[in-house]
Amino acid sequence: MFPYVVFALLFAFGCVTHPSHGAEVKVKDKDDKLCLYANVMVNFSVSYMTSENKTELAEFELPSEVMSSGSKCDKTSSTLNLNFGAGHSWSINFTLDGNVYQADSITFSYNLNDSSIFPKSVLTDTLSVNMRPQITDISMNTCYSCKSEETIQSDSVNQTLWNVLIEAFISNGTQSENLTTCSADLNTTPTASPTTVAPVTNTTTSTHAPTTSPAPTLPTPTTGRFTIKPDENSTACLLANFALRIGVKQGEKYQEINLDPNMTTVSGSCGVNTSELVLVSNAMTIALTFVNDTKKFRLQAVNVTASLSSGVVFSEANSSLTLWEAAVGSSYMCNKEQNYTITSQLNLFTFNLQVQPFAVKKGVFSTAHECPLDDTSILIPIIVGAALAGLILIVVIAYVIGRRKTYVGYQTL
Ligand SMILES: *[C@@H]1O[C@H](CO)[C@@H](O)[C@H](O)[C@H]1NC(C)=O
Ligand SMILES: *[C@@H]1O[C@H](CO)[C@@H](O)[C@H](O)[C@H]1NC(C)=O
Ligand SMILES: *[C@@H]1O[C@H](CO)[C@@H](O)[C@H](O)[C@H]1NC(C)=O
Ligand SMILES: *[C@@H]1O[C@H](CO)[C@@H](O)[C@H](O)[C@H]1NC(C)=O
Ligand SMILES: *[C@@H]1O[C@H](CO)[C@@H](O)[C@H](O)[C@H]1NC(C)=O
Ligand SMILES: *[C@@H]1O[C@H](CO)[C@@H](O)[C@H](O)[C@H]1NC(C)=O
Ligand SMILES: *[C@@H]1O[C@H](CO)[C@@H](O)[C@H](O)[C@H]1NC(C)=O
Ligand SMILES: *[C@@H]1O[C@H](CO)[C@@H](O)[C@H](O)[C@H]1NC(C)=O
Ligand SMILES: *[C@@H]1O[C@H](CO)[C@@H](O)[C@H](O)[C@H]1NC(C)=O
Ligand SMILES: *[C@@H]1O[C@H](CO)[C@@H](O)[C@H](O)[C@H]1NC(C)=O
Ligand SMILES: *[C@@H]1O[C@H](CO)[C@@H](O)[C@H](O)[C@H]1NC(C)=O
Ligand SMILES: *[C@@H]1O[C@H](CO)[C@@H](O)[C@H](O)[C@H]1NC(C)=O
Repeated sequence: MFPYVVFALLFAFGCVTHPSHGAEVKVKDKDDKLCLYANVMVNFSVSYMTSENKTELAEFELPSEVMSSGSKCDKTSSTLNLNFGAGHSWSINFTLDGNVYQADSITFSYNLNDSSIFPKSVLTDTLSVNMRPQITDISMNTCYSCKSEETIQSDSVNQTLWNVLIEAFISNGTQSENLTTCSADLNTTPTASPTTVAPVTNTTTSTHAPTTSPAPTLPTPTTGRFTIKPDENSTACLLANFALRIGVKQGEKYQEINLDPNMTTVSGSCGVNTSELVLVSNAMTIALTFVNDTKKFRLQAVNVTASLSSGVVFSEANSSLTLWEAAVGSSYMCNKEQNYTITSQLNLFTFNLQVQPFAVKKGVFSTAHECPLDDTSILIPIIVGAALAGLILIVVIAYVIGRRKTYVGYQTL
């Protein structure tokens, strides 16, 4: 009851007038209509390593001057992408489910080569962190408003969001006057008179916990299609489709990093006895070595080098593996998520995997040898079938024995 009273008071403001001076962005759709509005303030705190081997903390704000290229609106998903400074970006994804929408993830990329923010950084890469904000249950055609601070923490980046005003999925080009207010704001609003009549609205409050931040969870990595050609005019000699994530242990700390296939350069070679696939992205370099064992091929070596969010460069390799084994002339396939332990400090996770490192014909995959785990759906009917067959056999035997007894019985009479 009480929160609705507060809503009645807030209706007057709406999405349109807002007193803050954050980064304000208006995204338009294909028909040049406003489809996403945002006015946000974000403070960043990033720890990084300097060339003197010290950990420094860089604290900076999202400037009000931002570029919104890369933002887009679709029917049920939209992305707000803010580029700022020397190669930094902050992007947030929304999805619409029925009558409510939510923010799924925030991806913050920071360019350590920007010495005005990260002086003396030992790394010069652009690193990304992915976090899940508590911006959920926003009613369609309302504007999410949260003046309170929400801090989202990860290993080396803390982000504080405040004075947030966002409307995603604006339906007909006009911003809504109605708000979905975060509960943190509701708790600090002066108490309203209990005699005020509460209007009936469909606006929901988001359950918003500003002090507790959830463990960031990575989205499933995107599936990439990687091919190696012996020369530019030939068809592929090595085919590999997969989505890949690495899990890295460093003492007490464990970090997972997704391979972004769109930001990956592919190289490698095809041989008679050995083929190699090398993938280089911002976050990692991974080399996969396949061997041809006369009749079968297998993944024999994995070498991963990654720059961790702590600034440490991590490198692990194992060259005595027997994974992804199949007959030469066929491909190896495994759709389900797989967790491979490469070394005690490195795990490899794959999704939608299909590889053929030898004997590729016409640039397409040959018959696939599927991994055992994918077969569990077939295994269950087999087990049930076998059990049924066993049961029928027992009944038949029992019947035969039963008939024999009665037959014997007649004879003795
Ligand atoms: C954000 O940073 C600015 C200056 O860098 C500071 O004045 C402000 O108080 C900070 N806000 C929060 C919520 O931390
Ligand atoms: C950096 O510090 C770590 C531990 O504090 C030490 O093991 C390493 O040798 C240092 N590296 C350099 C280049 O000083
Ligand atoms: C956000 O959406 C964009 C565009 O749809 C997509 O490329 C990107 O992978 C999404 N990011 C996350 C973290 O889901
Ligand atoms: C993030 O916040 C926590 C708690 O306030 C603090 O311990 C940690 O050092 C912060 N990390 C960064 C990178 O600012
Ligand atoms: C947009 O919505 C408003 C009210 O919700 C309505 O009056 C207006 O006709 C709509 N415009 C279009 C182009 O549909
Ligand atoms: C705001 O909510 C009220 C009550 O539900 C509704 O009558 C009104 O049309 C809404 N305004 C907009 C712009 O959606
Ligand atoms: C509000 O909710 C009621 C039922 O919960 C529904 O019948 C009505 O259509 C909703 N109104 C709007 C504007 O979504
Ligand atoms: C590929 O084909 C083009 C045009 O047919 C030719 O100019 C080029 O030399 C060829 N390259 C190789 C490596 O054979
Ligand atoms: C990757 O690129 C393809 C086409 O170049 C595009 O369709 C896809 O949305 C991109 N995916 C991501 C995650 O950026
Ligand atoms: C695999 O190795 C065998 C023996 O070394 C060789 O005869 C065969 O041609 C190789 N297969 C491919 C596809 O290179
Ligand atoms: C792994 O790759 C790195 C760089 O790509 C290289 O320096 C290192 O020697 C490789 N390790 C093994 C065991 O091959
Ligand atoms: C992957 O496997 C290792 C070793 O079996 C296990 O410790 C780890 O929890 C697994 N990771 C995931 C995400 O399932």
